[in-house]
Formats: sequence, C-alpha cells, structure tokens
Amino acid sequence: MVDYEVTVYTGDRVNATTLNSVNIKLVGTDGESDRTWLRSLVIFRGSVSTYTVSCPNSLGRLLLIELDKRQFILLPNDAWFPDKVQVKSPEDDIYTFPVHCWISDRETHRYREGKALRIFDESHPLGQYARQQELSQRSVDYDWELYAPGVPYTIKTDDPMTLPDEVQFSFTKSTEFAFTAATGLAELQLKGLVDNQENWKNLDDINDVFRNKDTPLSDYVQEHWKEDWLFAYQFLNGVNPTLIQRCKTLPENFPVTDDMVSIPDGSNLSNEMKQGNIYLCDYKNLDGMPANTIQGIQQYLTAPLVLLHKRPDDKLMPIAIQLKQTPADDNPIFLPTDSTYDWLTAKIFVRSADFSEHQINAHLLRTHLMAEVFAVSLLRNLPMVHPLYKLLIPHTRYTLQINELARDRLIGPTGVFTNFTASGGEAVPRILTRSLSSITYRSLCIPDDIADRDMQDVPNFYYRDDALQLWSVMFKFVQGVIQYYYKSDDDVLRDSELQTWIGDIFEHGFLSQPQTGIPQSFTTVPELTKFATMVMFTSSCQHAAVNSGQYDYGGWMPNTPATLRRPPPTEKGTTSEATMLETLPPINVTVQGMATVWLLSRQSSDFVSLGHYPEAHYSEGTPRQLQMDFKAELDMLSTAINNRNKSLEIPYTYLDPKKVENSVAI
Ligand code: FE2
Repeated sequence: MVDYEVTVYTGDRVNATTLNSVNIKLVGTDGESDRTWLRSLVIFRGSVSTYTVSCPNSLGRLLLIELDKRQFILLPNDAWFPDKVQVKSPEDDIYTFPVHCWISDRETHRYREGKALRIFDESHPLGQYARQQELSQRSVDYDWELYAPGVPYTIKTDDPMTLPDEVQFSFTKSTEFAFTAATGLAELQLKGLVDNQENWKNLDDINDVFRNKDTPLSDYVQEHWKEDWLFAYQFLNGVNPTLIQRCKTLPENFPVTDDMVSIPDGSNLSNEMKQGNIYLCDYKNLDGMPANTIQGIQQYLTAPLVLLHKRPDDKLMPIAIQLKQTPADDNPIFLPTDSTYDWLTAKIFVRSADFSEHQINAHLLRTHLMAEVFAVSLLRNLPMVHPLYKLLIPHTRYTLQINELARDRLIGPTGVFTNFTASGGEAVPRILTRSLSSITYRSLCIPDDIADRDMQDVPNFYYRDDALQLWSVMFKFVQGVIQYYYKSDDDVLRDSELQTWIGDIFEHGFLSQPQTGIPQSFTTVPELTKFATMVMFTSSCQHAAVNSGQYDYGGWMPNTPATLRRPPPTEKGTTSEATMLETLPPINVTVQGMATVWLLSRQSSDFVSLGHYPEAHYSEGTPRQLQMDFKAELDMLSTAINNRNKSLEIPYTYLDPKKVENSVAI
C-alpha cells in the first residue's frame, strides 16, 4: 500500500463550514484511488485539515481530484467552500488543486491540478476527457438567451440564485434583497415621498429632501450645478466621459456661426476650431427615440448637440446648445448670452439626455452587457485549467447575477428605470440596438478611443489620464501572463479553445457584425494580449469610471434629471423658474431616482479591489509573481492619483485602483 497525504483548505468566509461528509477520489496517469471519506464530522471555515488516502500502488502523475459531499442522517445538507486541496504523493511530489467555489449539491465535481494547460498540452486521455466533459456541462449550464433583437445575448436564467455553484461565490439572498429601490428609499429615509406626485414648488424643497443624504461631491454639485464650467467639466470627469470629442468641422445639422458665439480675445469660432480648441457632444443616439409616459403624463427626451470651447485659461466652457438634431426655426441654438432660464433650461435638457445616453449606452451596454458576454463566453469555452480562464475569471465575479437583477428590477416591466425615466420601456432595446450597431473594438480600447476622439491633449481630463495609466499597467500584466503561456503566434493559432472563445464573443456579443472590428479569431500573441486587456479593463476600470459617480452627480436631481415633463422650448424667451420646475420630474419620481443612483453607487460589502486575487487559480510561480507585480504597480498608481487629487478642486477618485472593483458587481 502507498499513502497520499491530502490537505484540505476551507475558505475563511461566512457559511463555508460543512457538517456533511466529504469524499475524495484521486485520479492519476496510472490509476485512481477509491472514493474515500475524509474522516471529519465537521469541516470548519478557515480550517486546514490533513487526511490519508491509501492505494495499492502509486497513481503516477496526478491529473485531477473528484469531490462530492453527502449529508449525515438527521443533519441538514449545506454548502461547503473549499479553497484548494493539496496532495503529497508517495514520491514526495506536491500537487495543488484550486477549487474556490461552493459545493452545495450531491454531484461529483472534478478539479484539475493547478498548472495551467492549453488544449494541446493535454497529453493524457483522462485529462482530455475531463476537459471535454467540463466544457460540455458548461455549455448546458451557461447558455445564451436572446434578450432583444439587435442587442448582445445574455445568460439564460430565470433567477440569479439558480446559477451554478461555481459562479455563486458569496452571492446570497441578502445581496439580492439589497438590490432593490426600496432598500435605497429606506436608507435615504425617503419612503414617505414615494406616493407624492406633486411638482416641486421650489429648489429649496428639493434641498430639504437632499439634505443629510449628500456625499461631499453631490453637495458640491448642488452648490455649483448651474455654472457653465461644471456643466462642461462633467463631459470630461463626470459619470459619462465617453461622448466628448474634438470638433474640427461642425456637423451639418448644427449650424453655429462665427457671429453667434462670443469668443474672448478677438478670436472666433472658425479660428478656434482650426486651433483645436472646440469640442462637441452629439447625442444623435437618442434621436427619434420614443419617450416614456409616467403616471399618465407624456415625458420628453431630446437628442441635443453641444459645442464647447477650451479657453486660454484651459477651462472648458459650453458655447452653444441645440436640443434636437434637425435644424429648424422651432429648434433654436441656445447661447450663454440668452436669458438665464433659456440657457439653464437648455443645459437641463442636455443633462437629462446625458442620463439616458450614459445609463443605456456607456453604462449598461458598454460595461454591464459587454462584461456579461465576456463572462458567459469564458465559462462556455475555456476550462478551469486554461491559462486565460485563470487570468479572467476573477473579473467576472457577480456579473451574471447583478445583470440578471438589473434586467428584472431596473429595466424589466415593473423596474424603476421603466417606471420613472424618460428612456424607460420601449426606448431601452432601441437605444441598445442603435448603440451596438455603432460600437467598435477601438472604442473599447482606451488608447484607441482617446486617439479617435482626438482627446489626447485636452487639459484637466483626469479620466483619460488615469484610464491610460491603468490600461498600460494592466497591459503589461496581461502581456506577461500571456507571453509565459504563448511563446509564439503558432501557439495562439492552434489553441482551438481560444478560437471558439473569441468566435462566441463575436457572434453573441457583437452579433457577427464585422464593422465593429472585433476580432473573429486570434492569429498573434499581441492580438490576444490586447483583447484580454480590453476584457479586463472593461469589466473593472471602465465600469468603475461610469458607475461610481452616479450619486455624486445624480443625487442632486436638477443636475441629472432622469426624465423631463415639458417639451424643449421652441423659441427663446419662453422660460422662467416656473417652467423649469414644471419641466423637472415630480417629487416621487425624484426620490425613486435618488434611491436608485444611491444603490448603484455604493460599494458592495465584500468588495474586491482591482489586482487583488484572493483565490489562487495559478499554482506556478511566474503568473503569481506577475499578479504581485501588478498589484504593486497599482498601489503606486493609487498613491500618485491621490497626490494629484490633493491639489484639485474636485478630486477625481473613480479610477483610483483601490476604489476600482475587479469586476462588474453592482
Ligand atoms: Fe454598474
């Protein structure tokens, strides 16, 4: 007989303890052990327990383990969270089997040894078989579902709690419960206002509701929201920094003339455009979209164009706003020289359009739905032992659950977005379809995106500065890992699993639209590196940039109204404080919006920040060292960002690596 020393590491997390009996089978190149009970009545959370598995002969090189668990008579079935299993062979070799997932059922689960293997590294038939079995089961567990025509496919599930154990992590009913507008309303003590459909009588009344529910920045926004510079600043460093671009030629449908706008120091619009000092925000995505009806009242959603000027003092200022796409006599171009309420009303319509563009395109489509496509295709096509699975799986945590909740609670038929926003309901899939048809691979890769928008040198663009640095640090990490496993382009070409992974993304994420520029296959190591960096960046940094500031900029409703109740003015001189208050959403719609952005901006209780890998999926030294180097570089970047922020009137914190979550988890 020979003995194998089996050490089981149970995760130190709530409910990880099991009162069930756990059985293990060791499988090697020369045979397999009996299914052996690990003789414990309880395996406690955080425990490290060692057992012996005896076999008549050596099993050769260990390939995998099988784990299953059964409840003892009279004791309940429970869930167990093993981190890993280590096995010392009679030959004194140490094998590590990463698990890092809940086991709650009575099924047999197979886990591979931790050394990453590409498909062509699988030399043993048992390894090949286990790989095929795992992927065929996964293709059943993680199936695609058509959410709406023209929109990326989503995970097929009716309930986020029924997703397989391996992606459940510590996602619990309490997490699910917290994801409700009612929770936000309760936390903000706004429940008493949810039935009040009256208009606001004045801005002070909004302040009474907002008071004591502010963040330092939302408070600042309340104080300065009417000022032009803050309006412009938000295109650079607010929640939607993705729209602004340099304007070298005016769009034909935006006929601003030199004599309309006043440019200081004797210059004019044409000159400033030539000098590269003019910027454009064009909400054409929203053109023609049907606006919602809320509480029986027609709402209004416009598709504005905004022109901005970078002054010699480096401040960006709005200089012209047209609220609808087609120039006409009843579609005036509003200017800062117009009456106070004409200009303020025009800005309010832009901010409200930005709410829809931001939430549906920049936030939902370009981060949440993209991250879901990347997660589902990863789970379907790459086995746990694959080096790219180990690299990217930490960046998928909670994404499937949170998206399913969002589809149900936010944009579903009774969702808060459907009930209380101008673009809720019918417009959502239409805006998503239009947005997807114009999405490009380059726009998902921040260095290309900044170049294409010609935004390389606009000053005070902290989103760009931080995002480019993060991309660079992330790219270096991803490159290190990929080059360790893929020594040549040929290695990439013959990894059939990688090819099906990208093919699945192209088909189900981008609906096989070649004009997106999304790769349809990988032919080189650099191509693979860039794509994997984009996946990681989109699922972490880009989501943080468009998610974390939602309450900062949206908590004070007049700065970001989710809907508007009067049509845009068709001539100048028709606005007043009274028309502004009639245009803004009523009391109950305001508090629903506040509660929702509050909910979506907060950090989850078990937040994992960027570059932290508490679950050791890699067992080899090189990728683990690269993970540590990545974290060290992120720490340095965090320090630099915090030092930079000390001198800023509005610190830009959303891309501080310590505040960026590893995955789309809220
Ligand atoms: Fe989000």
